[in-house]
Amino acid sequence: MSAFRITRTLPEDATAAALRADVLHGLTSDPKALPPKWFYDARGSDLFEQITELPEYYPTRAEREILADRAGEIAAALPARTLIELGSGSSEKTRYLIDALPGLHTYVPVDVSDSALVQAGQALIVERPGLDVHALIADFTAGLTLPETPGPRLLAFLGGTIGNLLPGERAAFLAGARALLSPGDALLLGTDLVKDEDVLVRAYDDAAGVTAAFNKNVLSVVNRELGADFDPGAFDHVALWDADREWIEMRLRSRTAQTVKVPALDLAVDFAAGEEMRTEVSAKFRREGVNGELAAAGLEPARWWTDGKERFALSLSVAR
Ligand code: SAH
Ligand code: TRP
Repeated sequence: MSAFRITRTLPEDATAAALRADVLHGLTSDPKALPPKWFYDARGSDLFEQITELPEYYPTRAEREILADRAGEIAAALPARTLIELGSGSSEKTRYLIDALPGLHTYVPVDVSDSALVQAGQALIVERPGLDVHALIADFTAGLTLPETPGPRLLAFLGGTIGNLLPGERAAFLAGARALLSPGDALLLGTDLVKDEDVLVRAYDDAAGVTAAFNKNVLSVVNRELGADFDPGAFDHVALWDADREWIEMRLRSRTAQTVKVPALDLAVDFAAGEEMRTEVSAKFRREGVNGELAAAGLEPARWWTDGKERFALSLSVAR
């Protein structure tokens, strides 16, 4: 018998308070910014799934190729009884892992998007009878409390989502991930790799404009949740490669001089014509850098796999 449970670890009003604090801080900073976790309401999660199918967006296909080829090796290296996945979204690629782990008892998908968790969880218990699915609506940057489940544990963080954290946040995240594990447990980490600038920029500025819609959706979230009057049509989507920091930066550029009101914050925000607001970074990695960051968090790099074109890497590191 399989079971699906979903637990909200943060009360809804705590989420609302966090959104208010983040938006207030971001819109009163110079330069202005909005934090990426607020992209993923139901429409944002849906737009992200469309991004994963775009011809320009290679990371999902590259990571899926690695998982399809290597799930057996991953399972042999860490025969997990509990699989925890942070930022699980649709859990689509995770099925390769679930299928390769014969002793798997519980799958714990963790996401801020309740719509993504419900869809993924309901599909999984039909497809994988016998698997317990315990979904957590939670912020993986905020200190997680996991359910009591049998070890060994494999913690998966796929999709290159680690690249959406800033370097300081990344170190804190990896230390937190290590703290969720016992010695011998492992982290399976997906990282997009540094490559040709054109390929990178196109992946975040597709011809069909889906990424632009995804980027602007954060404005609709702020409108709905905080009563703001952002006109998404008054901003342009910008994606650029920062060669020094080796990250793609997503911005929204104000087309005109305009004032946006945010009643829930008692705030009026002036944008100059052409002013750019940062919405997201997507860092790209090299093997030495990943291994160094893992080691600094007490995780011992054990395996490194790439797709055939060396666009994306999956690494397995073991808690000491
Ligand atoms: N793992 C999936 C989805 C990647 S998109 C894949 O590889 O395709 C990033 C996912 O992380 C989204 O589902 C988003 O809702 C979730 N997410 C982003 N920030 C988060 C946070 N701070 N806490 C929990 N989930 C978060
Ligand atoms: N983790 C994904 C990435 O960095 C998230 C993502 C893909 C994204 N496309 C985006 C975030 C566009 C913001 C805008 O590749």
